[in-house]
Amino acid sequence: MVDHESVTKAVVPAAGLGTRFLPATKATPKEMLPIVDKPAIQYVVEEAVGAGLNDVLLITGRGKRPIEDHFDRAYELEEALRAKDDPERLAAVRESSELANVHYVRQGEPKGLGHAVHCARQHVGDEPFAVLLGDDLIDGRDPLLKRMIEVRAQFGGSVVALMEVEPEQVSLYGCAAIEPTDEDDVVRVTNLVEKPVPGEAPSRWIIIGRYVCDPAVFDVLEKTPPGRGGEIQLTDALMTLAQRDRSQGGPVHGVLFRGRRYDTGNKLDYLRTVVQFAADRPDLAAEFLPWLREFTAKHDES
Ligand code: UTP
Repeated sequence: MVDHESVTKAVVPAAGLGTRFLPATKATPKEMLPIVDKPAIQYVVEEAVGAGLNDVLLITGRGKRPIEDHFDRAYELEEALRAKDDPERLAAVRESSELANVHYVRQGEPKGLGHAVHCARQHVGDEPFAVLLGDDLIDGRDPLLKRMIEVRAQFGGSVVALMEVEPEQVSLYGCAAIEPTDEDDVVRVTNLVEKPVPGEAPSRWIIIGRYVCDPAVFDVLEKTPPGRGGEIQLTDALMTLAQRDRSQGGPVHGVLFRGRRYDTGNKLDYLRTVVQFAADRPDLAAEFLPWLREFTAKHDES
């Protein structure tokens, strides 16, 4: 029997144009940009698997073939590494193809994150599901998604991930109006405001790229008109669900996340992410960190 209550599937939208990273993303998907030596999207799929979600649906589109190749077997490369007797690199090549049951659906036109999520409808069916954005990385040491799945089991409805930012930053993001619950790290979301006017934000808690959605979101997305930038916004659909009770696919709760998150969708944050990951790598840090210190010291002098 199909269990319609537990979360077993992850949806990873990766069909966006990545315009903030041009020209690098002209022929290479943004999600394939390396964080040291692994494409960002592999970390995201690893995170889904780490939270128990082995069924991963990637939403792709035009020019996203390298993503499919990355999660596929690469027989020639494997053969070459075997012939060279290089088991370490062979394991690294095979790892991504053995990680999860990866499925694909194409979003014909990049009409927004909400539209991309709607493309998952047939695959997901009538079950709650997780959405992980390919340009937001959550540190494996801070298991956010697992907690969000627990919150869905406890409260029903949908769950968003919230992070606190400085007041002057709130207007760059989607921001949540919130009310406390009996759980310290969980709030009830009463409204969502996309890029609020400075001074009018309902809180300092912004939405980051992890969601657990009730399947009711699909019907709502179908009726959601294009919003900001002519795109169908997931935030708008969740705002509708936030006003509903449990019998109609609501409500929406937020998990207050205080862990490590790395944004890779814009140049500056991408650079910060790469440096932080390199500094945490035992095989690189011993040489990289002294070089970085010396470089910044010299740079400050010049
Ligand atoms: P972003 O807005 O960060 O991605 O969407 P983008 O549109 O590719 O980037 P810019 O703003 O042009 O630089 C967040 C996530 O949603 C996916 C993107 O691939 C990204 O992982 N997305 C966005 C889709 O899958 N389809 C869309 O129509 C829009």
